[in-house]
Amino acid sequence: MHIANRTFLISGGSSGLGLATARSLHAAGGYVALLDMNAEAGEAVAAELGTGAGERALFVQTDVSDTESVAAAVKKSMEWVGRTGKALGGVIAAAGVGNPGKIIDRNNEPLPLSSIDFVLSINLRGTLDLIRQVLPHMTQVQPLEPDGERGALILVSSSAAFDGQIGQVAYSASKGAVASLTLPLARDLAQYGIRVVTIAPSLFESGMTAMLGSKVRASLERVMEFPKRAGKPEEFARLVKEGIENSMLNGTVIRLDGAMRMPSKL
Ligand SMILES: NC(=O)c1ccc[n+]([C@@H]2O[C@H](COP(=O)([O-])OP(=O)(O)OC[C@H]3O[C@@H](n4cnc5c(N)ncnc54)[C@H](O)[C@@H]3O)[C@@H](O)[C@H]2O)c1
Repeated sequence: MHIANRTFLISGGSSGLGLATARSLHAAGGYVALLDMNAEAGEAVAAELGTGAGERALFVQTDVSDTESVAAAVKKSMEWVGRTGKALGGVIAAAGVGNPGKIIDRNNEPLPLSSIDFVLSINLRGTLDLIRQVLPHMTQVQPLEPDGERGALILVSSSAAFDGQIGQVAYSASKGAVASLTLPLARDLAQYGIRVVTIAPSLFESGMTAMLGSKVRASLERVMEFPKRAGKPEEFARLVKEGIENSMLNGTVIRLDGAMRMPSKL
């Protein structure tokens, strides 16, 4: 699937990995619709990308955990596609939250269900809902020769899907589910020429990880193999690009972690 003159919906496009992806796809000639809760950052990015490059970026304030909000965002994005005439090429579902918490705390209180629901509703349900609502549009895209390809879905899992740490029960559950649903989703969509690629990053520089203290960061760097540093958002975006462009990537979960395996605790 080529990127130029195709439209990509990017959830979490206002910050971190989603933002780097938006910049990269835009630089490759793609049209990017940024779906994010953070309107201030999102509008700024859309303005930055829009300037001097035609109207190739759109921001739509979206809460992926709210199905009405997702419906409105998909509607606005598809209206934009109608105006630009640039067919849908894919979805990058990068919106996500961490929200750590042990299943039982030192006061013998179990993790609040609301806390578990919060993480699952954004990372898992929000990912599935966005895809679910975009797909009826993607199946109508004119298939490309020679394979009949219509588009690619890029999902974001995490190292925590495989080696989640203390306090990551809800986050690991959400990211493990994203990894697990990759193959059945690819199988469901094979008949439409739509591929699914999931990326599982380790520690990457982003808004999410900027909040980590220097002690935590140092102990994470100690368990890294090579390179001994956090990944750069641009390195994530490069794999997204490959996931879109390389038609043989499908139904797979790719770890992007420099061989790092997270220990139980830091
Ligand atoms: N940075 C890392 O080290 C790392 C590692 C593994 C996985 N990930 C995953 O990568 C994805 C991107 O995270 P990031 O590191 O770029 O973090 P980030 O905080 O920089 O970006 C996440 C974006 O998601 C948006 N968002 C949060 N809740 C939302 C909601 N309900 N609806 C719409 N948008 C919402 C935020 O506003 C933000 O712009 C997440 O799914 C995260 O779990 C990140």
